[in-house]
Amino acid sequence: MTRKKLIAGNWKMNKTSAEAVALALEIVQAAGKQSEVDIVVCPPFTALESVSKAVDGSLVKLGAQNMHFEASGAFTGEVSAPMLRAFFATHVILGHSERRSLFGETDELVNRKVLAALKNQLRPIICVGESLAEREAGSTLKVVQAQTEKALEGVSRELAPAIIIAYEPVWAIGTGKVATTEQAQEVHAFIRGILTKLLGEALAQRVRILYGGSMKPANAPELLAQKDIDGGLIGGASLEARSFLELVRAAAGAA
Ligand code: 13P
Repeated sequence: MTRKKLIAGNWKMNKTSAEAVALALEIVQAAGKQSEVDIVVCPPFTALESVSKAVDGSLVKLGAQNMHFEASGAFTGEVSAPMLRAFFATHVILGHSERRSLFGETDELVNRKVLAALKNQLRPIICVGESLAEREAGSTLKVVQAQTEKALEGVSRELAPAIIIAYEPVWAIGTGKVATTEQAQEVHAFIRGILTKLLGEALAQRVRILYGGSMKPANAPELLAQKDIDGGLIGGASLEARSFLELVRAAAGAA
């Protein structure tokens, strides 16, 4: 089974609306017509509308970095899936380790968000990954299993093909320390095994599993050549068109 590679840029809390449009336009100009690799950009909420217009008519897709699980209501400071859909967003990052560690998101909350995203035709990019302490304690697989199983609780087989998993070892995020290809492939294969158990072989083979954590043009080709690594969720290297586009090319080369 060949899965189409996906390169997603998580811009985190960077870029004003104008800066985000400039970056999005550079990406659209250079890669907006290529169809070998799926490209998703995830600007902050404040730039979703402007970036939506910038990518309109191209193959570059729009994602958000978070959302609330309710459709509307008294949730000051939050945004909902229908609001994201109104900007033509197609993807949403959920359960990023920064949301979990800095904003107290639990596995249960992530699960509610996953179900809400699917209900609203948004593809959730579900982030899982162990901390340094957890890796050193030898509990990487246990942590990743618990996060993955809980996030997917109640996901129907019918909607399962829409999900995307991102394995992001917390110790590799923004640190310049990338997981070795063996470390990454081991966890990706393990996640594929969990998906097989939950959804069956055929569906598990369709779900894309991205790697995230200091992915750069220099280390991407080797990571993307691994059997179960289907793309990347990119932080730092997605903030400049040049490095982001190099990652898209690396993914095309590994397709
Ligand atoms: P970096 O690529 O900056 O390490 O960030 C990875 C990440 O958190 C993407 O969601």
